Amino acid sequence: MSIKSICCIGAGYVGGPTCAVIAYKCHDIKVTIVDLNQARIDAWNSDKLPIYEPGLEEVVMARRGKNLFFTTDVDKGIQEADLIFVSVNTPTKKSGLGAGMAADLAYIEAATRRIAQVSKSSKIVVEKSTVPCRTAQSMRTILDANCTENIRFDILSNPEFLAEGTAIKDLMNPDRVLIGALQTPEGIKAQNALVSVYNHWVPIDRCITTNLWSSELSKLAANAMLAQRISSINALSAICEATGADVDEVAYACGRDSRLGSKFLKASVGFGGSCFQKDILNLVYLSTQLNLPEVAAYWKQVVDMNEYQKKRFVQRIISTLFNTITNKKIAVLGFAFKKDTGDTRESAAITLIKDFIQEHARVAIYDPKVEHEQIMMDLTEPGVLDNRKQVEQHVQICGSAMEAADGADALIICTEWDEFKDTNLDYSQIYEKMHKPAFLFDGRLILDAPKLRGMGFKVQVIGKTELAGTA
Ligand code: NAD
Ligand code: UDX
Repeated sequence: MSIKSICCIGAGYVGGPTCAVIAYKCHDIKVTIVDLNQARIDAWNSDKLPIYEPGLEEVVMARRGKNLFFTTDVDKGIQEADLIFVSVNTPTKKSGLGAGMAADLAYIEAATRRIAQVSKSSKIVVEKSTVPCRTAQSMRTILDANCTENIRFDILSNPEFLAEGTAIKDLMNPDRVLIGALQTPEGIKAQNALVSVYNHWVPIDRCITTNLWSSELSKLAANAMLAQRISSINALSAICEATGADVDEVAYACGRDSRLGSKFLKASVGFGGSCFQKDILNLVYLSTQLNLPEVAAYWKQVVDMNEYQKKRFVQRIISTLFNTITNKKIAVLGFAFKKDTGDTRESAAITLIKDFIQEHARVAIYDPKVEHEQIMMDLTEPGVLDNRKQVEQHVQICGSAMEAADGADALIICTEWDEFKDTNLDYSQIYEKMHKPAFLFDGRLILDAPKLRGMGFKVQVIGKTELAGTA
């Protein structure tokens, strides 16, 4: 079976870039990305795309209006398609059974029901969203129970492994594409059809085909293992600070072992992003449901260590600033959860700033890509500091690092944006503008601490002490 028309339900961080790249690489396929959110679709159809990703604009502009379309007409998109990606959000449940742990599958279910209701021909339905193991079974039950006669639905699992900030690069040249299917003749036929879509640009040996449940679980497993490496190096960073070992040196020495590898060993203020915490908690919940409490506890520790890392950093800042930050001005450089994205979901900066405000500090924030309103929304979200007035009294959102640093007692690097490196930012001018002693906290290990100490800064770095390496 040859795929001629694809619909993607969900025009978010995954659906948008993924299907834009499919359109870019497969001119013979019509790709329609649909969403219920009118503002998001309008932005995809405008000059200012709703998300920032290096290279995304070029891809979208090259194919939009040719074989790439964005629309809120969900039903038409479904009806025209041979293959439908379901790429809706699957956040952690906020209430009810499994609250704080389990994935909220309401959006998956709504999209699946819509496919069943409006389809007039057979479809391949592909889980692109990250879902708990065996979700495909529920989708299948809904589709089979609601479809009209002579229509057949085959379900595939095709989790997405792109990372934000490098999404286009990852999609253009993926390490692997994973496609799970029921091991029936029809399932395998559908699997081959999707392989041939990717095969327009991804070599066949990078297309891994598995059964449905392995594919669903592999996505959770990959994210859990990546996050586990960060929590491991962050746990070691605490030992480094207490002993005089240097976490960068430890990471390098360990990473040179080809069995370990060097990636995902950068100590930090804590991992953020919409996926790691959510997917690990999902795995924890799944393990608990399967009556595997030891397995659940093992993975839960990865998230607990991440929380500990953030708290530890805040405590180090407060104790360095003579045990009080009341009325002091704290400049926070970076609000996104990592560089090269405007995404702030689960960003460590949110937790840190919340703690600073609760300690009655004044916080000046600068991020090159996060919109002013997004910062206010994140800081006033229920459960953080829901009183907008209180937040507005304590927070100043700045247009540059220099503006944030003006009159600050401490400067905190929260996101590793290149423009914050000491080779790109004029730290001697920053030093002039700050209160003295001028404290600098590097939560991302991007600064040349000895050089900055030479300028007069009091510098503290995660996983390092000033006297590291000395007797
Ligand atoms: P997102 O919130 O950016 O986008 C989801 C979109 O789906 C929203 O625009 C929403 O309006 C839309 N939507 C929800 N229900 C709908 C419906 N019934 N009909 C039409 N549109 C609907 O989310 P995202 O970051 O793109 O993540 C999507 C999925 O991909 C999640 O399961 C996530 O875990 C997974 N994932 C995300 C990343 C990432 O880096 N963000 C990476 C890999 C996998
Ligand atoms: C992650 C996975 O990498 C990706 O495969 C999956 O599809 C979605 O989840 P993402 O969250 O976009 O991608 O970014 P990633 O590069 O993994 O970074 C996640 C967080 O970990 C960021 O806050 C980042 O700063 C932090 N991180 C990453 C570290 O602290 N140290 C590292 O060595 C790597």
